[in-house]
Amino acid sequence: MSDKVKSSAEMWDNRFAGEKFAYGKEPNVWLAERISEISPPAKNKALIPADGEGRNAVWCARLGWNAEVFDLSAQGKIKCEMLAVEHGVSVDYNVADLRNLQIPRKQFDLIAFSWFHTPSELRKEKFPMFITALKKGGHLITEGYHKTQMPLDSGGPKSMDLLWDLDEVLEEFLDALPGEVKIEHAAVTSTILDESDLHTGLARVVRLHLRRI
Ligand SMILES: C[S@@+](CC[C@H](N)C(=O)[O-])C[C@H]1O[C@@H](n2cnc3c(N)ncnc32)[C@H](O)[C@@H]1O
Repeated sequence: MSDKVKSSAEMWDNRFAGEKFAYGKEPNVWLAERISEISPPAKNKALIPADGEGRNAVWCARLGWNAEVFDLSAQGKIKCEMLAVEHGVSVDYNVADLRNLQIPRKQFDLIAFSWFHTPSELRKEKFPMFITALKKGGHLITEGYHKTQMPLDSGGPKSMDLLWDLDEVLEEFLDALPGEVKIEHAAVTSTILDESDLHTGLARVVRLHLRRI
């Protein structure tokens, strides 16, 4: 592991070290709203990238999804396992860096993630893989902070490069498989977050729901 990646993993490990769950134990509201509308899965596979302490993956598992996570944080994995035990479910959690991942094509019925902010160069290189990793009919659902979040204090990275522009991020996903991605929802919106001390109050977010057709 390079020093840069190690220090980033250490940063997230420190954030997830306490007993408290940094972003709460409940799923992200946007993800939960959209995933609830998808017909109940029969042994269907969900990938929840960068799920930290596993709140979204555990919630998916409670609904019956076979939920997998990858995330940099070994401490996040420990917390995810605790939350899974609390709910009597299991999640397959892989401690890994997006940089080194190659996800095979057509593997997942659902890929969903919240607040996964990477340097734009890495996002452009790797996020299109989330589209190709979907089976036909599969859903990609995500929420990230918009660039207009910069002056607000309701969470998110204080870096314009890491924050999202709707058109840019949408184009990256659509270009992954031209003509094979349907936009179910794509918007920048203002919302009131109530996830934890770190994500509370008025926020500017990008919400996407795409479908591979
Ligand atoms: C703000 S937290 C969000 C956690 C979770 N999605 C949630 O909403 O509760 C960002 C997460 O991204 C993970 N992460 C950041 N860069 C990563 C990378 N290159 N590869 C894998 N995970 C990464 C961190 O370890 C952290 O868990």
